[in-house]
Amino acid sequence: MKVAIGCDHGGFSLKAGLIGVLKDLGHEAVDCGCHSADSVDYPDFAAEVCAKVASGECGRGVLICGTGIGMSMAANRDPNIRAALCHELFTARMSREHNDANVLCLGARVVGPGLAEEMLKVWMETGFAGGRHLRRIEKFSRG
Ligand code: RB5
Repeated sequence: MKVAIGCDHGGFSLKAGLIGVLKDLGHEAVDCGCHSADSVDYPDFAAEVCAKVASGECGRGVLICGTGIGMSMAANRDPNIRAALCHELFTARMSREHNDANVLCLGARVVGPGLAEEMLKVWMETGFAGGRHLRRIEKFSRG
């Protein structure tokens, strides 16, 4: 699967390791920047990643900022996007199983690289349960 990944300066430190995880799992990471720790605006990178997911060019997206909060707020403005801000493994798994999250948001100042990489693995490998959960996401989401 092609997975779009983007960050701001607050999330830059995590991005390379997460790209490595995607590659190890056999996915193609589409790096939407940023490409240094210089200060940038997170909504610009959320928009780029979400556009690739909404268009179908990428199957899923990953967004990283300092807390994950700004990225998740910006991403969820798009009705095609179900972005989940997760800080531990349980919500990473449940965001796929119950919410069919198509974007994972992470806070690089909240979780360390080891946990972030495990969360991404679990998130990529967990399927959507469908059924009643599909009915529920259809009530608020287009994608
Ligand atoms: C940048 O300093 C920081 O505000 C940003 O990375 C993010 O945490 C916003 O939600």
